[in-house]
Order: sequence, then C-alpha cells, then structure tokens
Amino acid sequence: MLKDLVSKCRTYRRFYQECQISKEDLLELIDLARLTASTANSQALKFKISNTPEENALIFDTLGWAGALPDWDGPGEGERPSAYIIILCDLSLGKNKLTDDGIVAQTMMLGAVEKGYGGCMLGKCTAKPAG
Ligand SMILES: Cc1cc2nc3c(=O)[nH]c(=O)nc-3n(C[C@H](O)[C@H](O)[C@H](O)COP(=O)(O)O)c2cc1C
Repeated sequence: MLKDLVSKCRTYRRFYQECQISKEDLLELIDLARLTASTANSQALKFKISNTPEENALIFDTLGWAGALPDWDGPGEGERPSAYIIILCDLSLGKNKLTDDGIVAQTMMLGAVEKGYGGCMLGKCTAKPAG
C-alpha cells in the first residue's frame, strides 16, 4: 500500500557506505522522476548521479547535515552515502521551475525505499564554483 511506503520513507543520516548502488538502480529512480508532473511540462530538472568513492567524497564536502544538531558534522567515514542523485534545474527553460524539485525528490525517495534503500533529501548544499 502507498501509505506503508510513505510511512517507511524516513530520513537516514548514517549509511552502509560500502554498499554498492548500481548505475542501473539510480537510472531507474531518475526514470520515475521523468514520469512526475512538470511545471508547464518544461522538463527543466536535470540529474547527475554519483556512485564512486572519489565523486561521492567531493559531493559530501558540500553538504549540510541535520541543522537541528549544530555540533554534528554529519556521518563519519564508513557511514556516508554510497550514492547520490543531484537534482539540477535549467533556469533557462523558464522561471518558477524550482517547485518541481520537491515532487521529484519525494518520488525518487519512495522508489529508493521500494528498492530497500534509505536516503536523505539534502537541501543544504554549498557547491563551490568550478575552476
Ligand atoms: C526539501 C528538504 C530539504 C532537506 N534538507 C536537509 C538537509 O540539508 N540536511 C539534512 O540533514 N536533512 C534535510 N532534510 C531532511 C529533513 O530534516 C527530514 O525530512 C525531517 O527531519 C523529517 O524526518 P523524517 O523524514 O525522518 O520524518 C530535508 C528535507 C526536505 C523535505
């Protein structure tokens, strides 16, 4: 039942970092995102996946964890996420498309839970400009 899936879809902040999540699994979650509603059908959201230790480490350094726990820097080595799906928005496709990201994030989280994974939506991200 959908209610069971939604109830199981809780926030995790410690992970089995050694657990490999395949590119195929991540692409299946993005395929769910592709099927969700899109403002004016603009399809402005784009996705970047990461499931390698090197890329994961770069992403981890940009994230903010559990704002309610200011003394906690997030999961330690060995308990960090083994994969990420980064949601990007192509603003050139029009304004007000950022409302789509939450719908897509929850849909992908539900898909992840159905696959037996747990995750965390992370809005606090301080990406450094390239170069
Ligand atoms: C849009 C959005 C952004 C969030 N950003 C963060 C974040 O940057 N860091 C974090 O640790 N948790 C983040 N969360 C997770 C929430 O803190 C979490 O959903 C909330 O505490 C409820 O926990 P539960 O999902 O286990 O019920 C975010 C959740 C949402 C919906």
